[in-house]
Amino acid sequence: MLSKLKMQGEAVVITGGGAGIGKAAAAALCEMGATSIIVGRTEGTLLDTQTEFLAKGWKCEIFVADVSREEDVARLAKWVADSAFEVKAIVNNAGNNFSASLHELPTARWRELMATNLDSVYFMCRDFIPLLLRTKGPSIVNVASTFGVIGNPRMPVYCATKGGVVNLTRQLAIDYGAQGLRVNSVCPGSTLSPRYKGYIDKGLVKMDAVKARIMLGRPADCDEIGDVIAFLVSDAASFVTGATMMVDGGQTIH
Ligand SMILES: NC(=O)c1ccc[n+]([C@@H]2O[C@H](COP(=O)([O-])OP(=O)(O)OC[C@H]3O[C@@H](n4cnc5c(N)ncnc54)[C@H](O)[C@@H]3O)[C@@H](O)[C@H]2O)c1
Repeated sequence: MLSKLKMQGEAVVITGGGAGIGKAAAAALCEMGATSIIVGRTEGTLLDTQTEFLAKGWKCEIFVADVSREEDVARLAKWVADSAFEVKAIVNNAGNNFSASLHELPTARWRELMATNLDSVYFMCRDFIPLLLRTKGPSIVNVASTFGVIGNPRMPVYCATKGGVVNLTRQLAIDYGAQGLRVNSVCPGSTLSPRYKGYIDKGLVKMDAVKARIMLGRPADCDEIGDVIAFLVSDAASFVTGATMMVDGGQTIH
């Protein structure tokens, strides 16, 4: 089994890979021997992560793109195709969140989060599936959320986008299974990424309430989510497709 976790330099494209859960997934994949192609909007963040990874002897490329924009994703896919990488997987991780009740939600804010969390997954899957179908043991991992399977107060757009990601994942697993492409979603619970830590610092998240609803009594560290993403990418998960993998410390079991 352990040999199936190893990779031979195949490329894995990770959106939002410069920070948080995406960075942790990229690190786990690099440790397993993959070339991580980390994608994000801020060049400085990507360069810092690349420098850190290269210093460890890992293979890492960076690409600046806003994956909510169709033309940016097309540019990324063309660059990857022209660079002749063997693309083993894509990890659609980039995402955002905000709080508002639906009756006070302007259309522009609805569309903005839809674009970041759900359109991006559509653009990435559409443009990369032709490349993935050329490689051995390809897969897609979509990062959804516990709030893709349960509701949460004042998060109508987030819950809608993540529910969409969960079921788009199942649908794609049906359409492309016969061609050997596996498609899975990971649903993290509360995870101490830079964004989530920002919510804690601003008092938007109350840690006592968070701990009370998690059976393991604490939020996750990013690597606890990244490791599961890397496992799903690897050949050790060769019979896993269409799965909705809860990685939530038991948040959604009661
Ligand atoms: N942290 C949590 O508690 C938690 C829980 C459930 C699900 N998630 C999901 O996990 C994923 C990662 O979240 P995180 O907490 O690590 O966030 P984060 O903000 O710490 O990191 C996300 C990265 O994605 C980048 N990004 C955002 N929008 C982008 C865009 N349009 N194009 C390119 N890059 C973009 C950000 O700049 C950042 O580098 C998200 O999809 C989020 O919804 C997080």
